[in-house]
Amino acid sequence: MQYDLEAIRSQFPALSVRDGDTPRVFFDNPAGTQVPQSVVDRMSDCLLESNANLGGYFRTSELATTVVGEAHAAMADLLNAPSADEIIFGQNMTTITLHLSRSIGRQMQPGDEIILTRMDHDANVQPWVLLARDLGLEIKWLPFDLGSFEFDLSLLDDLLSDKTKLVCVGGASNLIGTINDIKTISRKARDAGAWTYVDAVQSVPHVSTDVQDLGCDFLVCSAYKFFGPHQGILWGRREVLEALEAYKVRPAPDQLPGSFETGTQSHEGMAGTTAAVDYLAWIGESMAGEFQDKNQKYEGGRRRSVHAALDCLFEYETGLVTQLIDGLQQLPGVRVQGITAKDAMARRVPTVSFTVDGVPPATIAESLAKKNIFVWSGHNYAVEAAMALGIYDAGGAVRVGPVHYNTKGELDALLLSLDEMLPRANVA
Ligand SMILES: Cc1ncc(COP(=O)(O)O)c(C=O)c1O
Repeated sequence: MQYDLEAIRSQFPALSVRDGDTPRVFFDNPAGTQVPQSVVDRMSDCLLESNANLGGYFRTSELATTVVGEAHAAMADLLNAPSADEIIFGQNMTTITLHLSRSIGRQMQPGDEIILTRMDHDANVQPWVLLARDLGLEIKWLPFDLGSFEFDLSLLDDLLSDKTKLVCVGGASNLIGTINDIKTISRKARDAGAWTYVDAVQSVPHVSTDVQDLGCDFLVCSAYKFFGPHQGILWGRREVLEALEAYKVRPAPDQLPGSFETGTQSHEGMAGTTAAVDYLAWIGESMAGEFQDKNQKYEGGRRRSVHAALDCLFEYETGLVTQLIDGLQQLPGVRVQGITAKDAMARRVPTVSFTVDGVPPATIAESLAKKNIFVWSGHNYAVEAAMALGIYDAGGAVRVGPVHYNTKGELDALLLSLDEMLPRANVA
C-alpha cells in the first residue's frame, strides 16, 4: 500500500516516448497533463461502441446515455457533489464560464458589484469584466500580498458590501502556485449575500476537492489538467443553478444538468473523464491505505478512494516541490515567484514559476526544450498576477509544473540543465 511510482508511470504511455535516445520530461503539466492508457481505451471504446446521440431506442444510443450518466457520477465523486445532476459538462472551463456568466448576469442590476482577484487566470477575470461592461456592473479587485503571495482576507472584508453579488477566485494559482482559502472566502461572500465562483482548474489535479466542505456556489475545472481529455466541468449548487435561467435552445431539457449542457456534448470526452476519475480511484485503492482511513467521512467506494488518492498524491508532490524550490534557490540570479518557506508547502501546489535576473524566460524555456525538458514561459494567462508581480513586460516567468508521475531524477536533470545554462546565459 505504498506510493508506487513505477506502477503509476507504467499507466502513461506518453512517459516512455523518446525522441531519438532522449526521454521526454513533462513539466508542462499545469497547461495539460498526459493521460493513462485507460483514458485512451475508454474514449476509443466510446467512439467504437457507443457512438450515437442520446434518447434513441437503439443500442448505441442507450450506451451513449450510460456513458453520459457515468461521467456525471464520476465527477460528483471527485468533487463530493451532493448529486450528479449538479455536474455540468462543457467544452472547457473558459467556454463554460463565458456561457454561465450570461445566466448569472440575469440576476444582477446595474451598480451591482463583482469581486475579482489579481491572482486569477484570465478565464475567471475577463468573462466577468465583459459582463460588467455589458450590464453596468462594478468590478472590485482583491490584490494578493507580493511578499507572502497570498491574499490578506481582511481586504476582502473591505471590498464586500451589500451590492456584492459574486466573488470570483481561483482554487490555486496557475502562475505562483498558491492554494487559496476558498472555505473562508466562500463564507465571507455568503455572509455578505454573494455567490462564489471558484476556478479550480489548478487545484483539482493536486488537492482533494469537496464542494460541500468549501461552501462555494460554483466550481469549475478541466479534465485535461487531471489526466483526462479536453473537457470542462462545472459543479453548481442545485438551488443556485435552478434559480438561473439557462441559455439554451427549446428542445434541450429544462432540467439539470441538460439545461446548461448546450448542443451535443463530447461523449468521448466524458468517457475519458470517467476513466481519469477511475484512475485516481485506482491509486486510492492500491496505494493510499493510510489516506483511506483519513477520508472515512466519504461513503466507501470510488468517492472515498479518489479523495484518499489526492491526499496521497499531495504528499508525494510536496516532496517534489520542496526539492525543486531548494534547487532553484541555489542557482545564481533565480527568483522564485511564489511561496518558498518549507513549512508553508501545504499552502501551494507544485507549480513553480521563477525569473532569472537578466535572462528572458523564453530563452530558458527554449534551452530546456532542446534537452527535451518541457516547461512554459510567459504570463500563462495569469495577466493580472504577472502585472502585479512586475514581470509582465519582461516576458513573465519560467513555469515548472511537476505532478505525481514526475520523478526526483527528472527534477535533478532540470536543475542540472539550469545550472549549466544560467551562467552562460548571464555572460551572454
Ligand atoms: C487556473 C486556470 N483557469 C482556467 C484555465 C482555462 O481552462 P480551459 O482551457 O479549460 O478553458 C486554465 C488553463 O490553463 C487555468 O490554468
